[in-house]
Amino acid sequence: MRFDVLTLFPSMFEAVLGESIIGRARSRGIITLNFINIRDYSEDKHRRVDDYPYGGGKGMVMQPGPIYNAYKSVVEGLEYKPKVIYLTPQGKVFNQAMAKELAKEKHLILLCGHYEGVDERIIEEIVDMELSIGDYVLTGGEIPAMAVIDAVCRLVPGVLGNEESFKDESHYSGLLEYPQYTRPPEFLGRRVPEVLLSGHHANIEKWRKEQSILRTCSKRPDLMDKILLKEKKEQI
Ligand code: ADE
Repeated sequence: MRFDVLTLFPSMFEAVLGESIIGRARSRGIITLNFINIRDYSEDKHRRVDDYPYGGGKGMVMQPGPIYNAYKSVVEGLEYKPKVIYLTPQGKVFNQAMAKELAKEKHLILLCGHYEGVDERIIEEIVDMELSIGDYVLTGGEIPAMAVIDAVCRLVPGVLGNEESFKDESHYSGLLEYPQYTRPPEFLGRRVPEVLLSGHHANIEKWRKEQSILRTCSKRPDLMDKILLKEKKEQI
């Protein structure tokens, strides 16, 4: 799968996406990430990419020209149109179901805004989807883009060593994951639940399922409501 990120701060990305699981997937060629500096596509002699908002108001707005030129440099010669995602607090709030859908795409372009956002016309012209990573405002779209890339990449087949490893985890089935334990069997007087030491796989599975439900009810009752509502709808 390929990602092209249009950003004013390409160097922010390598530190995060050059390491660990994503870093390994990149060196194995499963994932390709390109970071494109929008400033390189400015036609201004001072490499300017922003200007004052028409109508007045605070802050600066990213101009459409440099973003469009950067976008063109990515799509030129392609026989398909990659989906373009703009990271903005005005977007739909990103979740695991969206990550699963996006992991089916072969190529995504992520546009990171800064200042007071981007000129509306670039959204109209090239953007297919607006995503937010939560109802709070960050200084730019770079951290949200990294969050989306990380969440999507780890669902691409072959990125995680063991395909099973995300099937059990929180949010995959709509429920939170059961509690995990490792050695030692006792820590500061707290024992690992006996069932996990029993070697009885059916009992362990049953315990984990119950724990998932209990945890979801106590930590994220909103998620439990969603699951129950979905089940009810399916019965109708
Ligand atoms: N840019 C600034 N804040 C953001 C957010 N919460 N999600 C996505 N992009 C953003």
